[in-house]
Amino acid sequence: MVEESTAFRLVSSEADGFPGLIVDRYGEVLVLQSMSLGIEQLLPLMVELLQEAVHPKAIVARNDSPVRTLEGLPVEKKLLTGDRPGLVEMTQGKIRTLVDVWEGQKTGTYLDQRENQLWVRRYAKGRVLDAFAYQGGFALQMASSSEEVLAIEDSEAAAWRLLENARHNGLANVRAERANAFDRLRALERSGEAFDLVVLDPPAFAKSKQEVLDAWRGYREINLRAMRLLKPGGILVSCSCSYQITDEAFAGILREASRDSKRRMRLLEIRTQSRDHPILLTHPESKYLKCLILEAAG
Ligand SMILES: C[S@@+](CC[C@H](N)C(=O)[O-])C[C@H]1O[C@@H](n2cnc3c(N)ncnc32)[C@H](O)[C@@H]1O
Repeated sequence: MVEESTAFRLVSSEADGFPGLIVDRYGEVLVLQSMSLGIEQLLPLMVELLQEAVHPKAIVARNDSPVRTLEGLPVEKKLLTGDRPGLVEMTQGKIRTLVDVWEGQKTGTYLDQRENQLWVRRYAKGRVLDAFAYQGGFALQMASSSEEVLAIEDSEAAAWRLLENARHNGLANVRAERANAFDRLRALERSGEAFDLVVLDPPAFAKSKQEVLDAWRGYREINLRAMRLLKPGGILVSCSCSYQITDEAFAGILREASRDSKRRMRLLEIRTQSRDHPILLTHPESKYLKCLILEAAG
């Protein structure tokens, strides 16, 4: 099931039968997150089982999610076994990147987008824009078949790591800008820029039901701008990781954006999270990622 990657999710909480436990594998390093009191009490046993099954060089606990306070658990990062790892190299397709499992977002990177990042290589050509790029999960995969890739990312550390990773892979056509993607998309539109492919992979705009309306506006705004930036025949890869925004709601947002941007968009593909982040039919919350691929009519 896991192809072309040395990094993937090994245990995906409820969907894998371990509520509250996430274990990601980065080569020989495992990074886990424990989110409930129940699983926390079983951690010594889990660590033993993981050591027996995988023989990792190190297991790191990235228990720095504030969610843990709801369970009365400390918010902390800890080495559970082995030597403290530095940057860990992961390979995905032809791209090798260095991941900081201590300081990076999530457990180091966005493994849920692994299959989508590899998949969209087939659409890459000409000028590519990757907005909300993190360390270039999409941007780097598309660089070798594009003329140029512009990546926009708000976090200085992530934008810097993205450029380092581009250099590491000899990709001289990748530019990274540390900027607010909302402002930058607007500015690019104002200056008449056009792209062959745009990726939008923002953070979850709606973390709770109360935030859905604002999130709707946020998604609509960035999708509308992205559609206006597409050349005729251009491709939009539009993602949302907000569980609260349903598949139907996301389709509705894209419909509104298409209408308001006056761009006719054809839906080419409906995709979701990588298969190592399984979707359990009886646990609808386990399906959260939406990744739609659309084409702008000529
Ligand atoms: C879901 S992650 C993107 C993951 C990335 N596409 C990948 O495949 O690895 C969202 C990213 O958006 C960045 N971000 C959040 N708000 C932003 C903003 N207003 N402008 C630009 N980037 C932003 C976060 O720092 C984070 O790296």
